[in-house]
Amino acid sequence: MDGPLTPEHAQALERLRAGWGRLDGRSVLVTGATRGIGLETAVRLAGLGADVLVHGRGAAALAAVRAASASGARPTLFIADLGSLAGVRRLAAEVARDRPRLDVLVANAGVFAPERRETADGLELTFAVNVVAPILLAAALLPALRAAAPSRVVILSSASHWTGEMRWDDLQLAGPDAYDGLHAYDQSKLAVLMLTLALARRLEGSGVSAVCLDPGDVATGMLASGWPELPGIPIEDGAVTSVYLASAPAVGGISGAYFEDGAAVTPLAAALDVAAQERLWVAVEAVAGPLGAPDPLVPGPPPVPGAPAV
Ligand SMILES: NC(=O)c1ccc[n+]([C@@H]2O[C@H](COP(=O)([O-])OP(=O)(O)OC[C@H]3O[C@@H](n4cnc5c(N)ncnc54)[C@H](OP(=O)(O)O)[C@@H]3O)[C@@H](O)[C@H]2O)c1
Repeated sequence: MDGPLTPEHAQALERLRAGWGRLDGRSVLVTGATRGIGLETAVRLAGLGADVLVHGRGAAALAAVRAASASGARPTLFIADLGSLAGVRRLAAEVARDRPRLDVLVANAGVFAPERRETADGLELTFAVNVVAPILLAAALLPALRAAAPSRVVILSSASHWTGEMRWDDLQLAGPDAYDGLHAYDQSKLAVLMLTLALARRLEGSGVSAVCLDPGDVATGMLASGWPELPGIPIEDGAVTSVYLASAPAVGGISGAYFEDGAAVTPLAAALDVAAQERLWVAVEAVAGPLGAPDPLVPGPPPVPGAPAV
């Protein structure tokens, strides 16, 4: 995390705002759209004409996104707990069923957990929500994203990745005294950046891009709980980079990039280590199952009568 909005940062965000593109007729899923940066992102994307798929754990945000949508658009609510592997898979299955062509995924949902908590799958909560969920969701939605190519995956990392460090021997931070909320968060944002780069590599030539970003220090509930000493920039500024990467014609062909302070920047060297990215990819597959494999919850073709059961 760094400081509040500097004049240079403000100018950079203005340039990004000027680069936003129209999204009429395009389907965009925004996770964690109930509040904070995600809600503002969903509202702005609806204002740009997108058919917004609003994800949340409740219905809180739907009315605001509906109000910002063009007449005729039908923002839809998808409810899922992204701290559950089954919840992520179910969300992907429901979205793919509803929109077989998905133009943009904005994987925004994230958590800061001061105390260590475990999900029902036995994963540390920060790792589950900030690392596994966005990559599993992107992988499970690839058929829909490929169908809409050129399409985009936009993932929220953070400047916190700069102080991130992978605890390879204990990624779930389960050992005695291993857990510290800030460390868990920093590690998660480094990890999701590494996985975004690994995903982008796998998607080369597919017409689906994958990029990630730091939104700035943004005055949301998360900032207040984890970094109370930071004032944070207004949420409307915090959503600018997400909206830019989801909509700007100028970045349509850019993949495998990390954006911070309004520009693509080279992230921490550890994030660029391809062997480490692949090690992490394997570690995530070990807990989440093969990434990119057909989702078992997406109904396949009806069984052929008389064919043996597989
Ligand atoms: N704020 C910052 O300064 C800052 C800086 C760098 C990066 N980021 C990143 O930006 C993204 C948005 O952060 P924010 O500041 O807007 O945070 P926020 O206000 O706390 O909002 C987080 C969103 O994620 C959702 N979420 C959390 N856990 C979830 C779960 N288990 N299942 C489904 N949804 C879940 C929340 O849903 P509920 O309403 O149901 O809890 C909420 O919609 C995060 O990825 C964060 O790490 C933020």
